[in-house]
Amino acid sequence: MLRPIALVPRLAPSLFALLAVFVLPHGLGAQTPAAPQPLQTLLVGVDHRQVVSLDGDWHYLVDQSPYRALYTPTGAINDRSYAMNTHPNIVGPHNEEYDFATAPTLKVPGDWNTQTPELFNYEGVVWYQRNFDFQPKPGTRTFLHIGAANYRSHVWVNQERICDHEGGYTPFDCEATTVLHPGSNFVVIAVDATRMVDGIPSVGIDWLNYGGLTRDVSLITVPTAFIDDYDVHLAHGPAWKPGNKELTGYIHILDAPAGTPVTLEIPEAGIKTSLRTDADGRAPFTVTADKLTLWSPDSPKLYKVTLSTGAGDQRDTISDDIGFRDIRVDGTHILLNGKPIYLQGANAHAEAPIRGGRVDNDQDVATLFGYLKDLNANFVRLAHYPHDERMERAADRDGIMVWSEIPLWQHISFEKPEVYAKAVTMLKEMIRRDRNKASVILWSVSNETPNNPTRTEFLTNLANEARTLDPTRPITSALNTSHIEGTTATLPDLFANALDVIGLNQYVGWYTGTPESADSIQWTLPQKPLIASEFGAEAKQGNHGATNQRWTEEQQVFVLQHQFTMLSKIPQLRGDTPWILMDFRSPTRNIPKLQDGYNRKGLISEDGKKKQAFFFVQKAYKDHSVGKP
Ligand code: GCU
Repeated sequence: MLRPIALVPRLAPSLFALLAVFVLPHGLGAQTPAAPQPLQTLLVGVDHRQVVSLDGDWHYLVDQSPYRALYTPTGAINDRSYAMNTHPNIVGPHNEEYDFATAPTLKVPGDWNTQTPELFNYEGVVWYQRNFDFQPKPGTRTFLHIGAANYRSHVWVNQERICDHEGGYTPFDCEATTVLHPGSNFVVIAVDATRMVDGIPSVGIDWLNYGGLTRDVSLITVPTAFIDDYDVHLAHGPAWKPGNKELTGYIHILDAPAGTPVTLEIPEAGIKTSLRTDADGRAPFTVTADKLTLWSPDSPKLYKVTLSTGAGDQRDTISDDIGFRDIRVDGTHILLNGKPIYLQGANAHAEAPIRGGRVDNDQDVATLFGYLKDLNANFVRLAHYPHDERMERAADRDGIMVWSEIPLWQHISFEKPEVYAKAVTMLKEMIRRDRNKASVILWSVSNETPNNPTRTEFLTNLANEARTLDPTRPITSALNTSHIEGTTATLPDLFANALDVIGLNQYVGWYTGTPESADSIQWTLPQKPLIASEFGAEAKQGNHGATNQRWTEEQQVFVLQHQFTMLSKIPQLRGDTPWILMDFRSPTRNIPKLQDGYNRKGLISEDGKKKQAFFFVQKAYKDHSVGKP
């Protein structure tokens, strides 16, 4: 969550000066306005911009008593401790008892847990520091871009705090323009992975709480007025028909006066249009695009979309790769480009195959997408948080549709308005980063939350917020509030009324009932498209036995067989994602020799070995034998 440091919004200097005259106490009108405060924002399309990478080795210091270094005794942020990046005077009187220059290093991006044994289970504060050379250019602005930092982070450049952020899985940008100087500079970032009751997620999670600067860090330099946000999509009105090929959306230029020119070009579609911004810096557009090839799993067509504004050294241009498609719900069907589809795939945590740790590079992503394509999947639920942007880029290229969700997992403080504000911020950050990715077809606002009025109101509001932010995609959520009595199963959950697509998590045959009992269960469900968003069983790869012997590969297949028998009887079933593609680390999974700190519902082991379940699901998907579009 971006927390403005400056309480005073960025005002036009003249207005700010006026305010300074009339609002400062004791007639201090003569005071000159404070220097412009660093801006905190989120630039769209960063991975398609020229950046100065700050990835690599950063010094780090573990801060196990953060109420001396990061926090003051009252819990405020201490701007005068490690952030100063001074050096101890070890021969004379001193009070500095830290030194980054002689400290060890961690790789960025990268969770700290898998980089050094001392930090494997560490969930506290780690301070990162690195030096970097920089030559500010007049008439430009520079932002420090952080792809993700789990969970709370505080950022200083040259001893000045430029931003704070809460949320472990979405990017943020902190303006450093006024604090950078020519030559050598340094950045210090404190990352606090401590779980918080009022956090999102809260304290009880079923995955390893990997901490650190888990995604890329870079410097982005842009002209004083630049393109910070854009939305280019196929026009999506209720009257849309497959033949309608109009593109619409907006381009936003930060701090640009009304009437600023901006150009949208899609050469391969024969589109070039000149626009002008309105008073809010936004240039809305609608253009016909008769020659468009729509994006789909069978034809994942992407177009080079170039946006530009300004001239000379004030020119800002960005070329993104964007696919155009229509996704909507019609009765109990999900329509892609007007045709009913069935989504067959798997869940995936952002866990790197083989090496472990958070996914943060192209190789990790290529391995995971290799598994999905080998599974005959056309869909993936990126659980339980927005993944590294490389995942959605790969999905765009490979034609794999995506369910993307914020980490609102099970129990959070639904009664607190400040927690709702955090959820909205995370939703905005997720949608802003990925709204131009055709592969993302569903936004999910939560996973498995308790069925009570406070939660239902919270999530209904959040689902409506998501629909307002992006009217072009259906809104979903994974519910585990079904009620199974003998052979009847229902979903008595009012929150389902707020969803376009229902996600149903249930583990008949593993957590409840027997595998065979699933065959006779009859579901009564809302007349909406339904995705079986979680089901499955655990098996230790290589552990074999009878189909009624739990933890064997054979029993895992047996559960999936009966699950598919049950699920395929649900008429509105429009997708299924077994939990989960790959075994993943979870400290709550402590059965020695079977789990050893891993959740073993994977179709593949953490070291890349396919279980029998993988091949069972692979064949079911090849035969399209589970559900119908
Ligand atoms: C839940 C939850 C998952 C969890 C899974 C399990 O449905 O959504 O995050 O890992 O069950 O118990 O294995």
